[in-house]
Amino acid sequence: MSAYFEAFFALHRDLPREGPGEAADVAWAASVAGTSATAQIADVACGPGADIAALLAAAPQGHVTALDKTAHFVDQARAGWAPDPRVTVLKADMASIANSYDLIWCAGAVYFLGVTEALSAWRKSLRPGGSIAFSEPCWFTDAPSDRMRAMWADYPAMTDAAGIDARVEAAGYRTLGTRRVSDAAWEAYYGPLDARIAALRPGADAALTQVLDEAEEEAACWRAHRREAGYLLSVVAPR
Ligand SMILES: C[S@@+](CC[C@H](N)C(=O)[O-])C[C@H]1O[C@@H](n2cnc3c(N)ncnc32)[C@H](O)[C@@H]1O
Repeated sequence: MSAYFEAFFALHRDLPREGPGEAADVAWAASVAGTSATAQIADVACGPGADIAALLAAAPQGHVTALDKTAHFVDQARAGWAPDPRVTVLKADMASIANSYDLIWCAGAVYFLGVTEALSAWRKSLRPGGSIAFSEPCWFTDAPSDRMRAMWADYPAMTDAAGIDARVEAAGYRTLGTRRVSDAAWEAYYGPLDARIAALRPGADAALTQVLDEAEEEAACWRAHRREAGYLLSVVAPR
């Protein structure tokens, strides 16, 4: 593992979540999707498993299959949910999901594949009447600040709500509903990250200092410019 990735995991190891989100997002998406109490749900790119409790709350007699490609996050999610027969945690690649589901939930990871590509790949994994809910980086203005542009420079395909909808349509889906991921959801990610940054600062080497500086700037940029860009949560279903 490179010094950078070691430093990245020193910062991210055992955080409660790896991106913005809150239980209200899951409840809203399940309601828009018409998720039943017995639904089979996939939590794709689950990270440490922060959304599993809310997914089970939406389908208390159902089952959640949570998967991620990163071994540490899989272990963390398993540690939290191992005794619960309603949850299975898998180390797997989201490009090839096994089985089929009533709801595929994907918080903050569709961009690794692309919206159209992910929805196209997951279509065979949807049961009849099934839906997909995903959060995706989104411009809220067509004139963002230079600072916010720099923050998202490594995702040049980032678009606005209309652009996300066009990518949904291109995959043969229709959008059932959208809403912006809330400030509280972002703070649920950045709050614990702030505390970890402060704890790791004393004695940090060059690689760790770089990672801490980047994370600190990301949170500061979002707090200063959060009306310019964020995540859009979309619930979609095949046409
Ligand atoms: C921004 S984090 C979001 C994690 C989680 N959904 C959350 O909100 O806390 C993105 C996650 O995608 C996972 N990931 C990236 N590429 C993946 C792939 N090809 N298959 C499965 N998981 C992947 C990473 O390991 C990471 O846990």
